[in-house]
Amino acid sequence: MRRDVQVYIGRLRAMNPSSEQEPVASAIYSQDASSKVSIQITTHNAALRFTIDEHGKLFQSGFGSKGIHLTDCSEAFPTWGNGWVFEPALSVIHADGNTSTDLRVSRWSKTGQITKIELKDPEYPFFVDLLFRTIEAEDVIEVWTVLRNEEDGEVKLEAYASSALHFGDGDFWLTQFHGQFTDEAKMAEEKLGYGLKVLDSKLGVRAHQFRAPWLLLSKGGPLQEDEGEVFGGSLAWSGSFRFAFEVLPNGELQTLCGVNPFASAYKLAPGEAFETPKMIWAWSDRGAGDLSRKLHRYIRREVIRDGDEPRAVLLNNWESTYFDFDEGKIVSLFEGAREIGLDLFLLDDGWFGQKYPRNDDTQGLGDWTPDPRKLPNGIGALTRAAKEKGLRFGLWFEPEMVNPRSELFEKHPEWLIRQPKRQIELQRNQMVLDLTNPEVREFVFDVIEGTLSRNPGISYIKWDCNRYITQPGSPYLHRDMQENLQVDYVRGLYAVMEKVATSYPDVQIMMCSGGGGRVDLGAMRFAHELWPSDMTDPVRRLFIQWGFSYFMPAIAVANHVTLSGESSLKFAFDVAFSGRLGMDVDLDKLSKADREVARSAVAVYKEIRELVQLGDLYRLESPYAGPRSSLMYVKENGAVVFLYSLGDSPPACLRLKGIVPSCSYSVREINVATEGLDLNSNLSGRALIEGGLPVPALGPCESAVFHLERPVETGP
Ligand code: DGJ
Repeated sequence: MRRDVQVYIGRLRAMNPSSEQEPVASAIYSQDASSKVSIQITTHNAALRFTIDEHGKLFQSGFGSKGIHLTDCSEAFPTWGNGWVFEPALSVIHADGNTSTDLRVSRWSKTGQITKIELKDPEYPFFVDLLFRTIEAEDVIEVWTVLRNEEDGEVKLEAYASSALHFGDGDFWLTQFHGQFTDEAKMAEEKLGYGLKVLDSKLGVRAHQFRAPWLLLSKGGPLQEDEGEVFGGSLAWSGSFRFAFEVLPNGELQTLCGVNPFASAYKLAPGEAFETPKMIWAWSDRGAGDLSRKLHRYIRREVIRDGDEPRAVLLNNWESTYFDFDEGKIVSLFEGAREIGLDLFLLDDGWFGQKYPRNDDTQGLGDWTPDPRKLPNGIGALTRAAKEKGLRFGLWFEPEMVNPRSELFEKHPEWLIRQPKRQIELQRNQMVLDLTNPEVREFVFDVIEGTLSRNPGISYIKWDCNRYITQPGSPYLHRDMQENLQVDYVRGLYAVMEKVATSYPDVQIMMCSGGGGRVDLGAMRFAHELWPSDMTDPVRRLFIQWGFSYFMPAIAVANHVTLSGESSLKFAFDVAFSGRLGMDVDLDKLSKADREVARSAVAVYKEIRELVQLGDLYRLESPYAGPRSSLMYVKENGAVVFLYSLGDSPPACLRLKGIVPSCSYSVREINVATEGLDLNSNLSGRALIEGGLPVPALGPCESAVFHLERPVETGP
């Protein structure tokens, strides 16, 4: 009997002494302490540990609190075809047809934040580097892999995870964020049982329409806000992804996260390397709240652009005009925007198309020349008029897509993602351009470059993307390389986005994909903020914002006040206040009274903007538990508390979090027409935390916002 099989039985028996189960060929392993080499990847509070045995095999011996040393070991980055019979992290068909891979550590190193463990197949010049970058203060570890083919022929990667982590044994609860157009980021939690659970996307583009590439794993019980061990994972990838959770026969949880290899086996030529996207793991033993705050700080500092610069308050025209506008209409909105105190105007879809004017979504996409009927003086006239009113100007693009009724399609039918002999299937009357083709990438860059260089007044872009791939096929890629499409598309997209970001460092970008269809930390490296959803009814948006708050910091989540839904303008503002505020309303049609409500709300938001956008989030009451929900943001100099009621909520004492017990706070209700509830009189932080903030009864769609100002030290 092979040694590793014997060891496996031993381990299984140790965990379940009465078990008489048959041995399973496997590389699950119990390490002999005397011969091990240990690699520690540590953050402030967490550790990920590996050991190397005397044969050079790599084992993982725990992920979690730095203080706890887990001695049980399972094979790290398990490979297919050589003994491992569960989900593999890597499955390769070598140049000679061998379907197995054996990996041994050749060396490992630590340079600054990065640990690299280099593995090689002893029989093949096939190399696997496991990379880990620690962001110490936030207990975040970025995990990715580089695969290198030095064989004398092509190898095929059939599975290629970014991260393969064992979480040990115990009970785990998984939270996913699923949904669809106008109903994004719905939270659903389940306990993981034996076997395989997969969360994935096969959409390729607009890949997160049905599921965000994020997950929460809570150990030992369902997810709690302020207690318990919790792991947050997020794949920095805008394409199809796969998160697999397998509870192995010995009770251990293995997770495999990365690009979805389904119908995407990737062919690697000799000498080529393949770098997987990063899987970002965050850890906390103080619940989801602490985890989110760490992720928010990490995303602000390490992912999004200019994450410490408060964002402009903008006016968008999508819901107020749709495609029906002209220069006069847009310019008329500028005056109102200025009066209300807005900073930026964003012109949405519908501004382009000469032969095929973009008057609805059936035509014109791809023809990025201003429509002379709507904008006879071009975009330049708008940027100049905006500037005169003291407004910045932003413009909508959907540069990856094309309508069949367009000049672009007539000129370049070979630029589309399509399959031979198949009737083209449209979504929103449009098709996806093939970004694997360098000519197409150049075109897409030139579209943006041309518009921005001709109109230097544009300082903001909304980058939209309104369909996913249903018929994968690239006229550019060789017929043997068709399965590379999904990966090469995203790489092509990132190449263009990077070029735009580096060529125009002062132009801000909003990531949008028919609402929240592209919400990953890969695309967000090139952007400043995202549009989470086209659902702007504040009642339903509350839930969407709540879901987004687990991963995305408020500064990156655009919330626009519209006239959608039945609630008051005040309620709509209060809901939008808890992220990056904007408006999407025809200001010309607002009554004088409503304009005043808006003017005063924008001024109030500007007072609390830094608290919201740069502060620490504390979730207090979930809308899922209703009828009231609440959250707050805290910084050194104060806090802001948001309270929303969707039904009848009785008066209550709302226990606050995150503020300093030894400080006193003056508490004032803000965004109220008449003098708000003034709780004033220096309430102590301790009283607010332990006793709570006395909040009034609220009816359906009523809300209140409280500003806690300037803590004053009052001693211990
Ligand atoms: C989908 C976006 O989510 C909307 O905000 C808007 O920009 C439309 N596309 C425009 O077609």
